[in-house]
Amino acid sequence: MRYSQELIEEIRTQNDIVEVIGEFMPLTRKGNSYFGLCPFHNENTPSFSVSADKQFYYCFGCGSAGNVYSFVMQTENCDFLEAVKILADRVGITLPKPEQSSEEREEERRRNILFDMHRTAGRFYYEKLHESQGSNALKYLNERGVLPNIQKKFGIGYAPDGRDFLYRHLLEKGYNIDDMLRSGLVIKNKNSDGYHDRFFNRLMFPIIDVTGRIIGFGGRVMGSGEPKYLNSPETMIFNKSRNLYGLNFAKNTRRRELILVEGYMDTISIYQAGFHNVCASLGTAFNESHARVLKKYADDIIILYDSDQAGINATLRAIPVLVSNGFNVKVLQVPDGKDPDEFLKYNGALEFSKLLMTAISHIAFRINCKKREYDISVPEDRVKFTIEASKILASLSSDIERDVYIKEVSYETGISVDAIKNEIEKILNIDKLNFEKEANRKRRYISNNSSGEKSSGKALEKGVIKAQKELLSAMASNINVYNAVKEYVKPSDFLTDVYRSVASIIYETNEKNGQVFPAEVVNHFQSVEEQKAVTEIFAVAFKYNDNSDLEKALNENIKNIKKVSLDEKSANATDIEDVMKIVQEKRNLDKLYITITNG
Ligand code: UTP
Ligand code: MN
Repeated sequence: MRYSQELIEEIRTQNDIVEVIGEFMPLTRKGNSYFGLCPFHNENTPSFSVSADKQFYYCFGCGSAGNVYSFVMQTENCDFLEAVKILADRVGITLPKPEQSSEEREEERRRNILFDMHRTAGRFYYEKLHESQGSNALKYLNERGVLPNIQKKFGIGYAPDGRDFLYRHLLEKGYNIDDMLRSGLVIKNKNSDGYHDRFFNRLMFPIIDVTGRIIGFGGRVMGSGEPKYLNSPETMIFNKSRNLYGLNFAKNTRRRELILVEGYMDTISIYQAGFHNVCASLGTAFNESHARVLKKYADDIIILYDSDQAGINATLRAIPVLVSNGFNVKVLQVPDGKDPDEFLKYNGALEFSKLLMTAISHIAFRINCKKREYDISVPEDRVKFTIEASKILASLSSDIERDVYIKEVSYETGISVDAIKNEIEKILNIDKLNFEKEANRKRRYISNNSSGEKSSGKALEKGVIKAQKELLSAMASNINVYNAVKEYVKPSDFLTDVYRSVASIIYETNEKNGQVFPAEVVNHFQSVEEQKAVTEIFAVAFKYNDNSDLEKALNENIKNIKKVSLDEKSANATDIEDVMKIVQEKRNLDKLYITITNG
């Protein structure tokens, strides 16, 4: 799905980067550049710069860089297409329906059929719950304390006790069997012709995405039976890592704080108690992808999993995922090994709101968990616990937080604050050493192994990278340089994919328009990482005193690039004639001198 490059560029030029970033954070002007505190790393003195000329931002501290799209993608945590929408809206440009290939159109058609089918199935299950065959299910649901308005809000239904009620209903509604199989709601019989439903005699919880469409179901057995919850499989429209149960409602609270629970019933009970900012990861462990989804809606997360050992383990696994994605994480535990649904059933909403206040920081939680493994009254254990706690504290990035918890551990163990600080210092030093060792190892690995990659070991040498940057940057900003160089250096001479693509774009745009805007080149790349790499090519000024100085520098760069490119070609050549040709070209390289003429 793509918009035309012209439109993408039109939207970019209408959204002045200084204005867009200026609306997000304060900027101070210095000449033609603007400076501010970098929003992408912690700092006290501004090293984040925005260039009005180039329409780039560049942070000298952390190296983040890009054009106005990259900035929106990073701050709104969205993808390229969403950034295009946001910036088009900002300047009142109406986007056409994006251009689609025929496969994309076909895929969208199929997805739409699945959305439609799930809505039909949801309605079917809902109706069955309220017919006579659903009376037991309804009784079960009522006994669990789910009020009628909440049953309706969550669309809870009932899959009848039979092999193929839904299948026949969907047939009647005109769906074809391939689409039904694709939906995961209908399954081919194993030992005979024909088809049967995935779900029967289960209470049905529709899983709804953030735009309000049913994308799958969770079905609970009533009473005992295995599995307790049967979930829809992943399909074209249902990705378990990208959807959280209840998020469709939770996101509307706009609280930026979410309660994260384990299951369907916990979500529903907490919602019913009046806390609408609750959701659950669906039958999979909480992962990176969940965290990225939540980032759009929250900064603070309270993990409220079952207080049994499995719940505690799951909490300990979710914490680093959330912390590394920049959330403030707290942990709440229900007393007596219960889950939140049971707690609410026995204690009510008021007690639950009091419980919420007892959420503790994830650090305290981790330290408490460690403490339970030791007997603090025994000196040996006291030492072991303090060392374990120091490891946790060493991982904190905030000195203030660390200080607070050092005092607590000291208080609990009777070990002095200084001793704990020393221990942490020791751990940090070892970590640093290991980090450097690892970094060195990786560097060595790259320089030893890169020859097997697309570019040779030499290609990774800084010299060639710098030569490529300078040449591309000069070819983009000066049409005379481009005209002089284009016959000698082709896009395929550049090393690594990004540089080759940038070169092709510069060549094409120069041929078409006679000029190139570096910020426009960035538009062609859709990931923040690539955009950063491309911006780096243009962001660092290529310094020279006069034209002959420029010419000399460029010729050196060209030889440098050509030499590596020819070496690589000869290394990959299998035909003796090709090798001869390359050798000849290499000889000519010594004599090569390109002069740049103005106009
Ligand atoms: P629990 O076993 O804690 O269930 O599983 P629960 O939410 O307390 O359910 P009730 O109160 O007995 O009805 C927590 C979550 O793990 C997933 C479901 O999402 C469930 O809500 N799960 C559990 C499954 O997907 N399949 C299972 O068989 C069990
Ligand atoms: Mn439960």
